[in-house]
Amino acid sequence: MSSKETDKLMNFIEGVVGDRCLKIDEDLGNGFVRLHVSEAEKRQAKHDIRCVEDIVIELLRNSRDAGCKNIFVASYKEKNLRIITIIDDGCGIPPNLFARVFEPRVTSKLDTMITDRYGVHGRGMALYSVKRNIEDVNIIASSVEKGTIIKVCVDTKKCPERKDQSTFPITRVRRGEIQVVKGPHNVPRVLTEFGLEHPDIKIFSGSPAQILATMYNLSQNLLTSNKGGKTLFLENFEEGSLPLWQCVGLVFNVKVLAEILIDHYGLDVSLRNIHRIFNGEIKSLCDLRSALVDKHKMDGMITVSDINPNYETNLVKYIQKNDLDNLSKIAEEAFIKALGKKYFLSLRSSPKVWREKNQIKISFEVEEEDEL
Ligand SMILES: Nc1ncnc2c1ncn2[C@@H]1O[C@H](COP(=O)(O)OP(=O)(O)OP(=O)(O)O)[C@@H](O)[C@H]1O
Ligand SMILES: [Mg+2]
Repeated sequence: MSSKETDKLMNFIEGVVGDRCLKIDEDLGNGFVRLHVSEAEKRQAKHDIRCVEDIVIELLRNSRDAGCKNIFVASYKEKNLRIITIIDDGCGIPPNLFARVFEPRVTSKLDTMITDRYGVHGRGMALYSVKRNIEDVNIIASSVEKGTIIKVCVDTKKCPERKDQSTFPITRVRRGEIQVVKGPHNVPRVLTEFGLEHPDIKIFSGSPAQILATMYNLSQNLLTSNKGGKTLFLENFEEGSLPLWQCVGLVFNVKVLAEILIDHYGLDVSLRNIHRIFNGEIKSLCDLRSALVDKHKMDGMITVSDINPNYETNLVKYIQKNDLDNLSKIAEEAFIKALGKKYFLSLRSSPKVWREKNQIKISFEVEEEDEL
């Protein structure tokens, strides 16, 4: 049964018997119940996605885990609606799974779950939570090894965003590393922090017209094939090996490109702006991290040789949770052997092990050993 049919059936049952029996698995008495797993998931979804910034983080993490090199984030607001299209060039989603990835617990990360600064990633819950909390989310296109295009439409009255979405965070350079020091916790900050933490991924952020200008101009430098019309575009978009974002560079006709953008990229760019892009009047964006490196270079804060490669890459970022758990076990044994017996101390709980940039931290919470 498809998830739509299941929803319909649930609504029908709810109408007949009320929603209480659908929400609980077991009535334990005295007001205690065991929630049905789907009800617990719905409640968790509310907690996981509380604002537009949370959505952007989840989409960026997905693109990163898909092994992309570039992420294009086109965003604009129309009255209360925030519309964001994210285009990456990662491993893609097989078409038969487009609908299923929005169902709870659907993941391809069974053996590759990671913990990053935002928490555990690999629960198969983020897209489900996004879908539950916003007006619309769709996979516009995705193709294996060519990338994914996801578009979200958020009613900011129901799922809010920071008011100020134009201020970029203030950064400083410390030990050859660019760090965010302050600024509103808005989408530009989320993107900047993500871009700084992932130097191997280029993140471009702007209006749909700016994103188009960037994809178009970058692809012009990369493409060797001659420009053509819709047929050449479709051949490449659907069956070729070019990343999805580069295929825009194959089209030279303004009207054809406008249509293609809506149908295949979910991007709405006016004919006038496409003309301006073709005439070089709308410039390409620089990726967020490179823009900051250039800015700090101009300020005289860093020279290229200052950028310490160890600070550029987070060496511990892909260590998996089960390996950290293993380290915790070994640390527990070592604690008992080295200190516990000698000082009559025991551990309140297993040692906590977590990752920070280029560091693994372990903390031991100790208590007095119980007297026999
Ligand atoms: N941009 C993307 N590129 C490729 N695959 C993607 C992309 N976004 C989502 N997916 C696929 O959809 C699946 C579900 O995504 P979702 O974010 O819901 O869960 P998850 O990333 O597995 O775990 P979590 O809930 O912790 O985020 C992913 O496991 C991945 O296979
Ligand atoms: Mg995810």
